Amino acid sequence: MGKVYTPSDLIADDIDAYLVAHQHKSLLRFITCGSVDDGKSTLIGRLLYDSKMIFEDQLAALEADSRRVGTQGGAIDFALLVDGLAAEREQGITIDVAYRFFATDKRKFIVADTPGHEQYTRNMVTGASTAEAAIILIDARKGVLTQTRRHAYLVSLLGIRHIVLAVNKMDLIGWDQPRYDAIVSDFRAFADQIGLSVFTPIPISGLGGDNIASQSVDTPWFKGPILMDWLETIQVEDDLQAKPFRMPVQWVNRPNLDFRGFSGLIASGVVKPGDRVRVLPSGQESTIDRIVTLPDDLPQAVAGQSVTLTLCDEIDISRGDLIVAAAAPCPVAGQFEATVVWLDEDPLPPGRAYLLKIGTRTVGASVTEIKHRVNVNTLERTAAKRLALNEIGLVNLSLDQPVPFETYADNRELGGFILIDRISNRTVGAGMLNFALRRADNIHWQHTDVTKQSRAALKSQRGQVVWLTGLSGAGKSTIANLVEKRLHALGRHTYLLDGDNVRHGLNKNLGFTEEDRVENIRRVAEVAKLMVDAGLIVLTAFISPFRAERRMAREILEDGEFIEVFVDTPLAVAEARDVKGLYAKARAGQLKNFTGIDSPYEAPEAPELRIDTTSMSPVEAAERIVEWLEGQENDYTI
Ligand code: ADX
Repeated sequence: MGKVYTPSDLIADDIDAYLVAHQHKSLLRFITCGSVDDGKSTLIGRLLYDSKMIFEDQLAALEADSRRVGTQGGAIDFALLVDGLAAEREQGITIDVAYRFFATDKRKFIVADTPGHEQYTRNMVTGASTAEAAIILIDARKGVLTQTRRHAYLVSLLGIRHIVLAVNKMDLIGWDQPRYDAIVSDFRAFADQIGLSVFTPIPISGLGGDNIASQSVDTPWFKGPILMDWLETIQVEDDLQAKPFRMPVQWVNRPNLDFRGFSGLIASGVVKPGDRVRVLPSGQESTIDRIVTLPDDLPQAVAGQSVTLTLCDEIDISRGDLIVAAAAPCPVAGQFEATVVWLDEDPLPPGRAYLLKIGTRTVGASVTEIKHRVNVNTLERTAAKRLALNEIGLVNLSLDQPVPFETYADNRELGGFILIDRISNRTVGAGMLNFALRRADNIHWQHTDVTKQSRAALKSQRGQVVWLTGLSGAGKSTIANLVEKRLHALGRHTYLLDGDNVRHGLNKNLGFTEEDRVENIRRVAEVAKLMVDAGLIVLTAFISPFRAERRMAREILEDGEFIEVFVDTPLAVAEARDVKGLYAKARAGQLKNFTGIDSPYEAPEAPELRIDTTSMSPVEAAERIVEWLEGQENDYTI
C-alpha cells in the first residue's frame, strides 16, 4: 500500500543520464496558500525532504537548527527549511514569495510559497499568476477561515483550475473523519459560488508526512490520491498548443544588417517556416522564414518555447508587437471591462493615468469607472469610488492606444496585465481583461480642415496653457487674473479657467476627495486642451495638488504647450492670509480634506517657472510670467 519515495538513484550513479532524464520531465508550477499558522512552510519542507532534493549540507544545517530552535522536540522542523528569511524566523510569518525548486522521478516542480497575511495579497497574486495548480491549506482545528475564502477567490480569479484542499494537522484532531467531511463541505459551499466546483480534498499532516508522500495509516477511510501522487499526475499541459499561434515580441534581434530576428516566448500555438503570420497592431502580414536557434534551425516551435523568428518580408516590427497566425488573428481594442486587484497603499482613483503592461507591451491607461468592488469574504458587490489596498473591483479601462489581446479566460499571458505608477514605477495593480468594450469601435476621429495651427495663426499667437499650481490662498487666482489682463492688453486671445468658478458649473458635482480632485483636473486639462486647439492662451488656476494629474495635463498637450507655474507660498503664509477663512474652518475641523491640513499637496519638481510670493508682489509675479511668455521663440510673435 504505502508508497515510499526513494532518492533519485541516478543522481549518484550517473549524473549525465539523470540530467537528460530531468530535462524531459514536465514542469508543474504551483502555489501553496494558507493562513499564517496553517503549516505551509512545514508542508513545503516536507515535500522537499520527501522528494530527497535537499542537499546533504542543507540537511545537516536543518538538523542542527531544529535542535537549537527546538519547536519539534528534537525532530526535524521542516518549517525551518523554508523559512529562510530572518524576519520570518523572528516573527513567525512568511513575508515574501519564495520560489522553491524540487523534482521527483516523474516531474519537476516550482512551488511559490505565498504569505497568508491579508496585506500580502500582492505576493499571492504574484505567485499565483504563473501557477497551474494551487494547494489551499486549512488548519483542521480551525476550519474554513476568512483567509481561506480570500485565497480561494484569488486562486479562482487568477484562473487556476487544479486545486487541492489540504486539510492539515489532522493528527491534532485525532483523524476525525466527520470533522474533516464538515470542513470539506463548508469549503465546497463557498467554492461553488466562485466557480471552483472541482477540487481535490486531502486529509494530511505536514508534520508526520501523512498522505503527502505516503499513505497514512490513520485515514483508512480516505480513498483519494495522496498529495505527491496528485502533484505528479495532474494533467496541466492544457490546450495552449492547440490554440492559434501568438508570440509577443520581447526583443528585435539585429546583430548586423543581414539579420533581423524577432525573439519572444510563444504564448500559444505552433509555428513552422512557411506559416503565414500577421503582426499586430499594425496588421501587416508576412511568412515565417526561419526559426533560429543554435546549432540548427528548428522545423517547428510550440507554446512555452523561447525562439527567434525571421520573416520573408521586411516589415516594421518593434518590441511589444504581437506576431499571430494570419488565419486566426486576435482582436485589437483600447477599452475593456477588467477585474483589478489593487496592490498599492495609495488607493486607485478613476481617471488617473497609469502605465499598463500587457504581454511585452506597455501603454498609458486609466480606469474610467469602477463598476463595483467585491467583498471577497461575502462575495457581496458594493459601489465604490476608489479601490484601496487589496481590494478587488470590476472596472472599465481605457488605454491610450489599441492593443492586441485575448481575454484572460482564453490566455493568461495575453489577457493579464499590471498597472504601474508613472512617477514611482511601482506595480500598483494587477488585472485581467474580461472583454473589449465595443463602444470604442463605433467612434472614429473626425478630420477637420481648419487646424489648430490655422486657428492660432489667425490670432497671431500660439495656443498654450499656463498652469498655475499651489496651495489654496497662494495667490493663483489673483496672479492669473493680472496675467490675463496684461496679455489681453497686448492683444492676446486668452481664457482664464479658475478653480472656484469651474466648480460652479462644469464641475459642480465634484467635491474634494482625492478621486474628485483627480476628475476635476482631468476635465480641466481636457477643456484646456480644447481651448489650445482653438488657438487660445489658457490660464488655469487650480490647486491641482497631485503630480500625476499635472503630468497627465502636460502629456495630453504637445511639447511646449504646457507651462507649469508653481505659485510657491509656504503653508504658514497662506494660512496667515486666509482670505476666505477656510484654513480657520479646516483647523477647527469644520472642513475636511483641506489641502495642506489633512489632504496632501505635491509640489512641482521641475516647473517652467517658480513664483516665490513671499518675495514678489502679485503684480511683479504677473510681469515675470508675461515676460516669460512673450520671450519665447515663437513664429506668431507680432
Ligand atoms: S483642486 O484640488 O481640485 O485643484 P480647486 O483648485 O478646484 O481644487 O479648488 C480649490 C478651491 O476650493 C480653494 O481655493 C478653496 O477656495 C475651495 N475649497 C473648498 N474646500 C476645499 C478643500 N477641502 N480643499 C481645498 N480647497 C477647498
